[in-house]
Amino acid sequence: MCGIVGYVGPKQAQGVVIEGLRRLEYRGYDSAGVALVHDGAIASDKKAGKLANLDKAIADAPLPESTTGIGHTRWATHGAPNDRNAHPHLGQQGRVALVHNGIIENFAALRSELEAAGHDLLSETDTEVAAHLLESALSGGANLTEAMQAVCRRLEGAFTLVAVDGQDPDRVVAARRNSPLVVGLGEGENFLASDVAAFIEHTRDALELGQDQVVTITRDDVEVTDFDGAPAEAKAFHVDWDLSAAEKDGYDWFMRKEIHEQPRAVADSLLGRRNEEGFLQLDEMRLSDQDLREIDKIILIACGTAFYSGLVAKYAIEHWTRIPCEVELAHEFRYRDPILTRDTLVVAISQSGETADTLMAIRHARQQRSKVLAICNTNGSTIPRESDAVIYTHAGPEIGVASTKGFLTQIVACYLLGLYLAQVRGTKFGDEIASIMAQLDRMPKLVQKVLDGADQVHELARELSDATSVLFLGRHVGYPIALEGALKLKELAYIHAEGFAAGELKHGPIALVEEGMPVICIVPPRGRDMLHGKMISGIQEVRARGARTIVLAEEGDDEVTPYADVLVRLPQVPTLLQPMLSVVPLQLFACELATSKGHDVDQPRNLAKSVTVE
Ligand code: AGP
Repeated sequence: MCGIVGYVGPKQAQGVVIEGLRRLEYRGYDSAGVALVHDGAIASDKKAGKLANLDKAIADAPLPESTTGIGHTRWATHGAPNDRNAHPHLGQQGRVALVHNGIIENFAALRSELEAAGHDLLSETDTEVAAHLLESALSGGANLTEAMQAVCRRLEGAFTLVAVDGQDPDRVVAARRNSPLVVGLGEGENFLASDVAAFIEHTRDALELGQDQVVTITRDDVEVTDFDGAPAEAKAFHVDWDLSAAEKDGYDWFMRKEIHEQPRAVADSLLGRRNEEGFLQLDEMRLSDQDLREIDKIILIACGTAFYSGLVAKYAIEHWTRIPCEVELAHEFRYRDPILTRDTLVVAISQSGETADTLMAIRHARQQRSKVLAICNTNGSTIPRESDAVIYTHAGPEIGVASTKGFLTQIVACYLLGLYLAQVRGTKFGDEIASIMAQLDRMPKLVQKVLDGADQVHELARELSDATSVLFLGRHVGYPIALEGALKLKELAYIHAEGFAAGELKHGPIALVEEGMPVICIVPPRGRDMLHGKMISGIQEVRARGARTIVLAEEGDDEVTPYADVLVRLPQVPTLLQPMLSVVPLQLFACELATSKGHDVDQPRNLAKSVTVE
């Protein structure tokens, strides 16, 4: 997510805003900028890269004094991370400056409307479209508050917008929908920010804005309305966190924060993927429909957690497209002399976009003339840059080394790819695709429901903090989740853990099972009778040998109850969507068990967030 700061008061706005952005650096970003109101106009500067680049640019070309301003650190979604796409963005005449966090779903249609009216849009961003709309509304005689209300009524998607008008030095106006925005209440000064870390050195009194609200701040006043201009209420609160806690939004660890950000991350990764007729559109998909029709094999390549998202995706992609789909560890793929042709689609899954093993693998694939598509969370990183096409996940920066929201959104992106291929190749009718998309649209709320049950999992984790070995069992799409659950426990709690396909136990691993050994079992939905019954048999096998069974099963599944020492309920969803729910208790479990042992779950020993060496 981007960092946003707005200020109006007696101090020099440039300093307040840039220092506020510095407090938000932990969020991760790839460009930064600031805009000030001075002498009836906007003075601004923006640079790709870190704040140091912006500092240098301003030192070389100082900005004028001003007590009203806004600033932004951008985590790129639409458009590469460069000077041109950095925020703030200005209106056509340069009278308005705007910064934005989120995704404006209908920006393409709005952009066409503006260009038809003669506007020159200089960037690839959805934000610049909103800046031009805002300035057009102003030139119609509205003030900045009224203009913001009018523009917000036209926008679809998730957004926090903060704007200043060069001809109105006394106010900063902002709006939010499905994206964070807080007001800092000072003495003769007021602040706006994407999170309180930006202003708590100035004030700890704040307002949390509600959905679809516009806020106008001046030195001495804060006015809140809805998008139609009717007065609205915001929730006052006092920030009692220290700065470190504020950066984590009150959580103790970035990883915990990111686990709880997953509903938002999944929702954002689904935004903007359908056109007005409801057909899937993957706007970064630079492969033609003909290219996609000619594909006769798909190979998903990745490492670690990303590899497990590929293992999940295989089931769906093959089921929906009937294209053979292999999943390979990137570091093994390139050395096994794989059979690659022009009709092979190699899909590289990588949160960071910098994993050397995965990068080398796609280079090999391209040398063999195969098409390469990247699924990545980091706009402008190396792997997407070296791919023929990219589907970006919109999880926002993932700070914790252990991937959580990155993983969940990788599954979403892989599913979008599978559905898009099915749409292009006609292996699924439009209504079938729409039905699956509707199921995906429900997932943010269902992930949140699983998160609401965290206490039970946390209690279990603390009970098992002395465990020396834990097994994870799953079948079908539950098998990769068993592998991922084991990896989380290994990399965070430094406990031996192993994931198995439940059907494999009797072929050897069951010899491991001892009295009291924790075995976490992921039970498929009952819709798959074959699998469900066989999974219960597997649970009986380990239980008969003394295992302590922790069972994850859908609500209403009472068949598992006699075999579960601990039962964790999951909302009922179709088989292919259950991985997006069953992984969440395993993330919570590993995180809590590790922290109960005093481990640093954000920076586990021996690990790096991005493995840029082979
Ligand atoms: C997962 O928790 C680890 N951080 C690691 O396995 C990671 O998923 C793997 O290194 C791949 O990273 P990438 O997604 O950035 O390519």
